Formats: sequence, structure tokens, C-alpha cells
Amino acid sequence: MSGANIAVVGATGAVGQVVLSILEQRNFPVGELRLLASKRSAGTRISVMGEELVVDEAMPDSFDGMDIVFFAAGGSTSQALAPEAAKRGAVVVDKSSAWRMDPTVPLVIPEINPDDIREHKGIISSPNCSTIVMLMALAPLHRANPIQRVIVDTYQSASGAGAQAVVELMQQTRDVLDHKVPSHSTFPATLAFNALPHVEDFGEDDYTTEEIKMENETRKIMHLPDLPVSATCVRVPVPISHSEAVHIEFANYMSPDEARDVLSEFPGVRVIDDIASKSYPLADYATGKDEIFVGRIRPDKAFHNGLSIWTVGDNLRKGAALNSVQIAEALLEQGLVSSNGNGR
Ligand SMILES: NC(=O)c1ccc[n+]([C@@H]2O[C@H](COP(=O)([O-])OP(=O)(O)OC[C@H]3O[C@@H](n4cnc5c(N)ncnc54)[C@H](OP(=O)(O)O)[C@@H]3O)[C@@H](O)[C@H]2O)c1
Repeated sequence: MSGANIAVVGATGAVGQVVLSILEQRNFPVGELRLLASKRSAGTRISVMGEELVVDEAMPDSFDGMDIVFFAAGGSTSQALAPEAAKRGAVVVDKSSAWRMDPTVPLVIPEINPDDIREHKGIISSPNCSTIVMLMALAPLHRANPIQRVIVDTYQSASGAGAQAVVELMQQTRDVLDHKVPSHSTFPATLAFNALPHVEDFGEDDYTTEEIKMENETRKIMHLPDLPVSATCVRVPVPISHSEAVHIEFANYMSPDEARDVLSEFPGVRVIDDIASKSYPLADYATGKDEIFVGRIRPDKAFHNGLSIWTVGDNLRKGAALNSVQIAEALLEQGLVSSNGNGR
């Protein structure tokens, strides 16, 4: 094989598995491919790109000779190992929250702020999945009509909490149907047949860390440090794909038709919005697809110059793995990584 030498940390996880399939689907030019995870999964065999590869435990010297390293293994692993990969000359594309708000680390959605990639010093962060699903709709609208204020309520899928979370949801569902008492370990309470207004941990101001991420990451990616953003993040018993109700105040009046036109022209966004035929985006339809879907576009009744929209996207694809692979593609396109010759 010829191409960039790639390592995937977290190759056995929900996001890592999708990174591998997207690299293959998009014919990403891969030279050597290293699959890495924790000690628990060392020795596991995974079929990828027509080969069976063995997973190794991620160690600092795992990154020797790598050009691009995808991290999808949680914040503490990224905190510990991403600098080791960068030190060895690789460019890190990190899916965790570990580096996102570091002022020296670009936080990138390639359709929105591709130029920020050039500022990287070895680590590039990919945003939170809920932030990506919202901003793919907000960014084109903002270019047409400056956004003044945003309120968002999310309906987030179980897979946003990792592969084990989906197993837990399925088991809880079976238990409830069998009249057994369900147990929970990944979620803070039973998710089956429920809605949990509690994604990640509560912070000092009674917002959760997921809600704070949506606020801070939106400001950083959009280059709008003072934009008021208020989020309520809710976990719902859906396996894959996040849905979000977003209320937006603009500087000037914008009609729903104008918003539909703007959104339809933005790469990676598809409008499904025909009330007459009861067409609107749904999580089961979005699952497995690359686009972010937007519908229910209508005037907001509480905001002056406001619109309310409904946006849905696959949290494992555009919300995570696809966005990371697109960052890697941009690195190659912008000549910021040399294939088969070690990173920077
Ligand atoms: N799921 C989503 O929708 C989503 C979206 C955006 C961002 N993210 C972020 O992406 C990251 C991965 O999430 P996920 O949903 O894929 O989680 P997951 O399904 O739980 O997978 C975690 C992966 O990390 C590996 N890992 C755990 N500890 C490790 C260590 N000490 N060293 C090396 N590898 C280690 C695991 O390997 P083992 O098999 O050895 O345990 C597994 O491959 C997280 O930071 C998450 O916040 C997830």
C-alpha cells in the first residue's frame, strides 16, 4: 500500500470502528495501518481493507513512523498519548474533549473553518458530536444573516456514550419488557423507555459538561467569542443519531424559504422539510448517512427575527469519525502531511 501511515487509537470502540470503515469507503490513501486500543483488547483481530490486522496496546513508541494518528479512546488517553504521537512527528486528529479548548489546538469542522487547520502544532481536535450536528446548520445561516443568540435542546442517542452504552440500552429494554428491574452503569438512570436530562457530569453552574461543550465549542469554531448559546442535553433511547431542536435569533429577518435555500446549498447538509407530506428528518433515516439533515424550519415565536429548526445527524459518522477523516483529508490536500514520510 502507498499513502500516509495511519494509527487509530480506540480501534475497537464505537467511533474507531467507524473511522476504519470510512477510511476504506473514501479510499483514503493509507500506507501502513496500526490498530491500537487498551491492554484489554491487545491481540484482537480486526478485518480492515481486505486484511486481518492485530490490535496492539497503545504505547508511546506505537506512533514511531506514523503520519496521522486518530484518537478515539477518551480524554485521559488523549491527554497522555496525543503529545507522544505529536512529539514523534505525527499529526493527531483527536475525537475526545481533551484538547478542544486549548488555544493552541484548532477545533475544526472542515466545511466551516478549514483554514484553522493550518494553525496546528501537532494536534487538531474534532468537536463534540452534538456541536457538529448543530453547527452544520448554523454556520451557513450565519454567513447569510449574523446569528445573535441560540437555544438548543438535544435528543441524543445511546451510542454517543460509546459501544457499551448501546449494549446497556438493549439489555434494559429487554429487562423492562420482561418485567425485570433494569440495571444501569453507563447511564445515570434507566434509559429504556425514558429521557434523561443528564449527559455527562454536572458543573458548578448546574449545566452539564456536554451543555458547556456546545456553548464553548460553538463560539470557538464560529469565531464568535461572545455568542450567547444555551443548551439542554437529553439522552433518549435511540441507538444512533442525535436530533436537536434549535431556536436561532438573527440580526435581520430571514424567511423559512430563504433558510431552506441557504441550507440546501451548503455541502454536507440536506433539507427534508415538507409538512404537506409530513416529511422531516428522523434519527433512523440519518443513521449510516454522511449528511446532516434539517427540517421543521419555521418562524420562532419567542425570538425577534428568529427561526426554529430541527437538525439530525449520525453521531458516529459526521458527529465523530467522518469529521475526523475529513480533517485528515484536508491535511493531505493542504500539503500539511507528507505521505509515508512522517507528519510535519
Ligand atoms: N460515540 C460518539 O458518538 C462520539 C462522538 C464524538 C466524540 N466521541 C469521543 O470519541 C472517543 C471514543 O468514544 P467511543 O464512543 O468510540 O467510545 P467506546 O466505544 O467506549 O470506545 C473506546 C475505545 O477506546 C479504547 N481505550 C480505552 N482506554 C484506552 C487506553 N487507556 N489506551 C488505549 N485505548 C483505550 C477502547 O479500547 P478497549 O477495547 O481496549 O477497551 C476502545 O477502543 C471519546 O473520547 C468520546 O468522547 C464519541
